[in-house]
Amino acid sequence: MEYNEVIHKRRAINFFDPERDIDTQTLNKIIEDAALTPSSFNLQPWNLMVLRGKEEKEKLKALAWDQPKVAEAPVVLIVLADRNGWQEGHPTVEKNWEEMVATGAMKPEQRDWFLGAAKSLYNWNSEADLAFAAKNTGFFGMSLMYAATAYGLESHPMDGFDHEGVRKAFNIPDNYWIPLLLAVGHRKPDLELHPPKWRKTVDEIVVSF
Ligand SMILES: Cc1cc2nc3c(=O)[nH]c(=O)nc-3n(C[C@H](O)[C@H](O)[C@H](O)COP(=O)(O)O)c2cc1C
Repeated sequence: MEYNEVIHKRRAINFFDPERDIDTQTLNKIIEDAALTPSSFNLQPWNLMVLRGKEEKEKLKALAWDQPKVAEAPVVLIVLADRNGWQEGHPTVEKNWEEMVATGAMKPEQRDWFLGAAKSLYNWNSEADLAFAAKNTGFFGMSLMYAATAYGLESHPMDGFDHEGVRKAFNIPDNYWIPLLLAVGHRKPDLELHPPKWRKTVDEIVVSF
């Protein structure tokens, strides 16, 4: 599917067909495609919990404003943003460092500079690590939605949920912030979509101060 088609075809779909599953291979392709998302220093501070079971989706639905799509979609992703994903010793940080050295992007003697740069950007106030985790993971979330569209699937992002309730109910460690839940599946047969939502114009988007 061409990019232009993907970007116009994607809609937040409220009603999914509970009878149509998504196979693991397709879901993994979506995740692998989304993994190409760029991130600060390539730190990729995102993780996913994949919910497929009826019971766990019902548990999540009860904490997500009872939105029917949480139970109806065959797959619901809890998208996780790792606030620690810049720290020395973090497995992804260390793997990233090794890769950068192996490919020549960094020299071993630049390690202190690299760790110091990440610290100065993501640890300078109490919100910096959250901003780091959330912005990068937000891009990843968008990639997941476009990838789902490209594979002929529908999706629905949600921030209508009880953040702390979800964290507790699913034993999510507190280094994670949850930017969104993402329902993925096929739309309900014969579902009539509302017309596309309005968008800000270029003039409304571009500002100067
Ligand atoms: C981060 C995020 C959170 C959202 N949360 C909800 C939600 O909890 N419930 C809901 O019905 N829609 C939710 N939406 C869907 C938006 O309302 C929808 O994307 C927007 O109105 C534009 O419509 P479109 O996606 O069909 O173009 C959310 C969208 C985003 C990006």
